[in-house]
Amino acid sequence: TSNHLRHVESLATLPSGAGRISKLNAVILGESLASEEDDLVFPSGDFSRQAHVPSPQKYLDMYKMSIEDPAGFWSDIASQFYWKQRWGQPVYSENLDIRKGRIKIEWFKGGMTNICYNCLDRNIESGNGEKTALFWEGNEPGEDGNLTYNQLLQRVCQLANYLKHIGVKKGDAVVIYLPMLMELPIAMLACARIGAVHSVVFAGFSAESLAQRIMDCKPKVVITCNAVRRGSKIIYLKDIVDAALADSAQNGFAVDVCLTYENCSALEKVKTKWQEGRDTWWQDVVTKYPTTCDVEWVDAEDPLFLLYTSGSTGKPKGVLHTTGGYMVYTATTFKYAFDYKPSDIYWCTADCGWITGHSYVTYGPLLNAATVVVFEGAPNYPDSGRCWDIVDKYKVSIFYTAPTLVRSLMREGDEYVTRYSRKSLRILGSVGEPINPSAWRWFYNLVGDSRCPISDTWWQTETGGFMITPLPGAWPQKPGSATFPFFGVQPVIVDEKGVEIEGECSGYLCVKSSWPGAFRTLYGDHERYETTYFSAFPGYYFSGDGCSRDKDGYHWLTGRVDDVINVSGHRIGTAEVESALVSHPQCAEAAVVGVEHEVKGQGIYAFVTLVEGVPYSEDLRKSLVLTVRNQIGAFAAPDKIHWAPGLPKTRSGKIMRRILRKIASRQLDELGDTSTLADPSVVDQLIALADS
Ligand code: PRX
Repeated sequence: TSNHLRHVESLATLPSGAGRISKLNAVILGESLASEEDDLVFPSGDFSRQAHVPSPQKYLDMYKMSIEDPAGFWSDIASQFYWKQRWGQPVYSENLDIRKGRIKIEWFKGGMTNICYNCLDRNIESGNGEKTALFWEGNEPGEDGNLTYNQLLQRVCQLANYLKHIGVKKGDAVVIYLPMLMELPIAMLACARIGAVHSVVFAGFSAESLAQRIMDCKPKVVITCNAVRRGSKIIYLKDIVDAALADSAQNGFAVDVCLTYENCSALEKVKTKWQEGRDTWWQDVVTKYPTTCDVEWVDAEDPLFLLYTSGSTGKPKGVLHTTGGYMVYTATTFKYAFDYKPSDIYWCTADCGWITGHSYVTYGPLLNAATVVVFEGAPNYPDSGRCWDIVDKYKVSIFYTAPTLVRSLMREGDEYVTRYSRKSLRILGSVGEPINPSAWRWFYNLVGDSRCPISDTWWQTETGGFMITPLPGAWPQKPGSATFPFFGVQPVIVDEKGVEIEGECSGYLCVKSSWPGAFRTLYGDHERYETTYFSAFPGYYFSGDGCSRDKDGYHWLTGRVDDVINVSGHRIGTAEVESALVSHPQCAEAAVVGVEHEVKGQGIYAFVTLVEGVPYSEDLRKSLVLTVRNQIGAFAAPDKIHWAPGLPKTRSGKIMRRILRKIASRQLDELGDTSTLADPSVVDQLIALADS
């Protein structure tokens, strides 16, 4: 504990600069700084004065409390929610040390609550019934809708009643495969209301990926829609679901019901295929049910949702989150990291198919009675000004997005931004990958007119909520740094041996103790949970990320250190892409690595060896890429296929990815020692074929 406090206490020794003009301006004027780390960007005095956490000292006091007395700190916050029955003692129990037995994390056990009740009924009772809960903006400008908290509750209750009627019970899984319609958060909340466990599958995943998830969690019902427009394209989601359901049925698991929302905005003159007895139109049945529905009270440790994510081995992992701790954690992180106030209008561009959409489109904001913008479309349609058009239209004050979007809009030119007022903006946010300082500056100076702090939030599907994040107004920022830990979070940087390193350093990012929003297991595979996250560095949760800490105690995330790549903020396991590639009949072997990509952060670079006698061709390249799109989804399509006569392997047959990464990024003078390879000549052959 004392080390921890020492790390954050460095904050108090920073020059006090409220209102001071940032060194950032020096950069814009072309003067160079000694290093990025020295660039401090101060919040204005006016901003800090109105913030929940107005100073480093206030943060230090709260942080200290949260570390020294986690039970007391989190109980006080949890008491602001509705509990049918208060939790028992101890408030939390944990074992993060694999050497001491099974890994276990529990918070508020014995407490009975319901997160849907806390998002809706509780806020309505406190006078927010007529407040807008959701603004929906369709793909086409001018197409929109909205729901007040009262109306949202009614919609949720109707669907909850329908689900109960078809036999969905507490603990049953429900798979949701929907685009960003209001029906997506409605479906999540309806499941939560009746204690069902939702598993949202991002609607960009292929039929095969969807089938794999369905077969793993065995839902009674799958909720989808007929089609969706994305930009100028139409995607027939129901066809994808049909294929997935057929695949799953062939493998022995048949879903009882496929509830299909008729998404009018996407209606074309194409008839949706229908399987009588299994398929039902949402609009035909759900609207007939009563608009009130009793709540199923669940234990704080009962599961709330499953969300599949990629790991370093082939099969996606079902990350399981429970109810009570997740509720308290998402609500609290949302409030502080975005300095949320009841008058804010909040827009997060993430899709509910990812964790960001769970914690910071649906649960975190609604628990705070916030008004949330849900956007169905694409950020560059009809043109690259769409985001700022939406910001002005709804008077968005908090805008949360991913670095990849910032970089792609940055390339389109400033006029798309400056054409719009953006005066409503107060806070900007970034998530999904490290934000490079130049994108940070563009976002800060141009989009936010040098007035809006940026919350660069580091966290993961597994962590449930923010772990390392700025608190706007509390301390100066450094472009590209996620800064300091959230309350209750004890990040540590360890070396290869798992020894904590102090002061200025870099190494592997771990967490030392549990926090309420932590995931509790991998669905159906607690052992994999323990080996993946708790065995590399016994005693700690290992994040899979590298991190350094500078002399002022700021944290700088440096990316994944395992075989996971991060493409446009989407997490992809190299093994998943490899297994898709080798399923192609003409592919003998594949090795996939990440390479730097100007817009996506990382791109997918695949080395492929072909079956004996098969020649390379452009058609084959296309067909390999198509195989990956079909098996995983378009977002996982390789950017580059590098034909390989052979792969660099050790004598024991292990592929040396270190060498492949260097070849992929053309750092040919940094190949290192290749003498341990079974056949060192493959390296030269690969280099010769690099740009063919
Ligand atoms: O590498 C880190 C990166 O995204 C990974 C988690 O991916 P996922 O579970 O899909 O969740 C994404 C949204 C929370 C992390 O291991 N990452 C996420 N946020 C940041 C980040 N890297 C640097 N800075 C961030 N702000």
